[in-house]
Amino acid sequence: MIILGIETSCDETAAAIVADGRTILASEIASQIEVHHLYGGVVPELASRKHVENIDGVVETVIKVAGLKIADIDGVAVTQGPGLIGALLVGFSFAKAFAYALDLPWIGVDHLEGHLNSVFLTPKPPPFPFIALLASGGHTAVYKVNGHTEVVLMGQTRDDAAGEAYDKVSKMLGLGYPGGKVIDDLASRGDPARISFPRTFLDKNGYDFSFSGIKTAVNRYLQVHAEPSTQHLADVAAGFQAAVVEVLSYKVLHAAQVNGCRHIALVGGVAANRGLRKRVVEDAEPLGIEVHVPSHDLCGDNAAMIAALGYHHLQMGRVSNLDDDVYSRNRITN
Ligand code: KG4
Ligand code: ZN
Repeated sequence: MIILGIETSCDETAAAIVADGRTILASEIASQIEVHHLYGGVVPELASRKHVENIDGVVETVIKVAGLKIADIDGVAVTQGPGLIGALLVGFSFAKAFAYALDLPWIGVDHLEGHLNSVFLTPKPPPFPFIALLASGGHTAVYKVNGHTEVVLMGQTRDDAAGEAYDKVSKMLGLGYPGGKVIDDLASRGDPARISFPRTFLDKNGYDFSFSGIKTAVNRYLQVHAEPSTQHLADVAAGFQAAVVEVLSYKVLHAAQVNGCRHIALVGGVAANRGLRKRVVEDAEPLGIEVHVPSHDLCGDNAAMIAALGYHHLQMGRVSNLDDDVYSRNRITN
């Protein structure tokens, strides 16, 4: 079954063609980073306009790259929410029109459930049930994943998402938006033990996070220690990253132990972080827990994960209706 996936929840216009929920035949992402970089964050109205400009092109490209004709597509999957309403509407309306015109089944899917399914596009996906840490620019949460579309929220951030903390610290260091990759690179050249930032575990037996305190701690530290040297900035980045990564690793592994799961997945933009991947693998090994992480291009927003998830919904006979609408807020609650 060949599914066309479409994703426009934030600032990436993405399309992909995936066969049987497993094999990526083509995946394209038109990034808007250069547009939003100027403003230090995503400007919703600009994101919507850029999606309108880019959507036809990315869909045409994936059909061509996959070596298919439009008639070869068996169904359409599109992100329905959560995300920016105007941005979501572009992809959702496109998918409705495309599917209606070609008389294809189509399904609106959840963006976060999409990230959780990104791990099935890797060569060796985890068996069910597994525990997943989803860390991105808008969300940070721990889930128990019982099936492709059966997901239980165990805990989530009470304030900032982990990626948001990276982006804000990057801004404080004068390194611009988005900050994850820049801080990750800088941290690899710094001493993680020179500056100790607070680790916010909240309840050590719970799975909620809080990242606003560490952001404030970095800000205060920079006000008092205003050394402009590159080494100083690298040490701040390394100290910040060590603190964030320690908490993320502890919570996801604790959840796996409590639930007797021997497999965990790291997904979302922050899962591309080399410091996080290394720390979780090191911590998981003595516990006999296997860590599954998608390739870098599948950690950030992409449409292949949407097509993979859509395949499972469509296989179960679920389809959306033309009067269905997008949603902005998280629907996976506990
Ligand atoms: O999943 P994603 O592309 O979009 C959302 O759904 O939010 O995640 C984007 C977030 C940004 O905050 C970005 O700074 C962060 O992921 N990110 C990283 C890294 N690469 C991207 N954070 C830490 N380390 C990275 N290497
Ligand atoms: Zn995302």
